[in-house]
Amino acid sequence: MIKPDAVENGHIGAILEKITAAGFKIVAMKYTQLSVRDAQEFYAIHKERPFFGELVEFMTRGPIVAAILEKDNAVEDFRALIGATNPAEAAEGTVRKLYASNIAENAVHGSDSDANAQIEGAFHFAGREVY
Ligand code: CMP
Repeated sequence: MIKPDAVENGHIGAILEKITAAGFKIVAMKYTQLSVRDAQEFYAIHKERPFFGELVEFMTRGPIVAAILEKDNAVEDFRALIGATNPAEAAEGTVRKLYASNIAENAVHGSDSDANAQIEGAFHFAGREVY
């Protein structure tokens, strides 16, 4: 996902350019806004964390771009491309170093495993929306 902060700040195009230049194929994509229920479900794994309420409020405050990306070693390579969760710790040139504001408003989300990528892809897209 390209998160609401990066969308608000006009970074959709630049982020998609970095993603495709890094060799990822976009197999599904949509511009949409999460409801509170959607965000609570998507981030259910974090529901006991102290920042859960803030996270849901942030993720629902404006539209996002959701996408499914394909590449060999996609999960690991995408995490390298976006950088550390906290942009203050992200490597130079990474998406979060360039476009994120702080650990909460960190511009993008990437799946942390192939299994979660399947679950998260199915959350956003019907089978007929994946090409
Ligand atoms: P993401 O990679 O999408 O996974 C969980 C999200 O929770 C994370 O990016 C941030 O947007 C948010 N998050 C993680 N840690 C914190 C924190 N300490 N305070 C606020 N939000 C956080």
